[in-house]
Amino acid sequence: MSKPKVILFFGFLATFVHRFFCIPMSNRKRIISPSMLSADFGHLERDTKMIDRSAAEWVHIDVMDGVFVPNISFGFPVLKAITESTDKFMDVHLMIVEPEKYVERFAKAGADLVTFHIEATDNVQECIDLIRRSGAKVGVSIKPATPVSAIEHLLPQLDLVLIMSVEPGFGGQSFIEGSTDKVRELRTMIDSKGLSVLIEIDGGVSRHNAGELFEAGCDVLVAGSAVFKAPDPEEEILAMLEA
Ligand code: DX5
Ligand code: ZN
Repeated sequence: MSKPKVILFFGFLATFVHRFFCIPMSNRKRIISPSMLSADFGHLERDTKMIDRSAAEWVHIDVMDGVFVPNISFGFPVLKAITESTDKFMDVHLMIVEPEKYVERFAKAGADLVTFHIEATDNVQECIDLIRRSGAKVGVSIKPATPVSAIEHLLPQLDLVLIMSVEPGFGGQSFIEGSTDKVRELRTMIDSKGLSVLIEIDGGVSRHNAGELFEAGCDVLVAGSAVFKAPDPEEEILAMLEA
């Protein structure tokens, strides 16, 4: 065989091995949820429409109250406005104390999934029940210092667990490395119980760590600055999906 043919042969062989032996190992659905916290609020409709056209299936909405986290973002009217500009799945991340007071209103304002922090309330069960009754999906989030064991007993009642890979409050921070181990631990926990709870990760996610995070067991990657600061956000979303 001539040299170019040998190269071609091994090229095809490598593609075959990758397709049939590597991809099925992690054939979970991959979802990107761009965080509107990094959007241009002066052009909210334009940025929402961009996500609407893109390969991202979800839209991540960060709600901050200045108490649970040292920052304030936005609330119901902004969520409503974003919901009106897209048909994508509304992924609402509440970083507020006493979420039980507001979860139903977020569901009414258009949230398809309402995720609250376990550290933000003494009434975890009430929150879960209120969200469930409102018709939205139920998510629980943990901060970087909270172990996954803290939510193990809740797993049968949840649709999603959100692992924070930065301290909640701000976009543009660096990914905390130990977070990937938390994803692996949670994936093992969920699989060993035969559950179908989704794992989402939020903070410092980009095309550079997306592949590793999907491999570790994530279903949903939240990305704010990586998407909105990219020269071509739609291309960035594709690069994360294919990482
Ligand atoms: C931070 C928020 C994140 C934030 C992520 O508390 O929960 O959703 O927008 O931003 P990046 O992707 O820039 O780290
Ligand atoms: Zn978030």
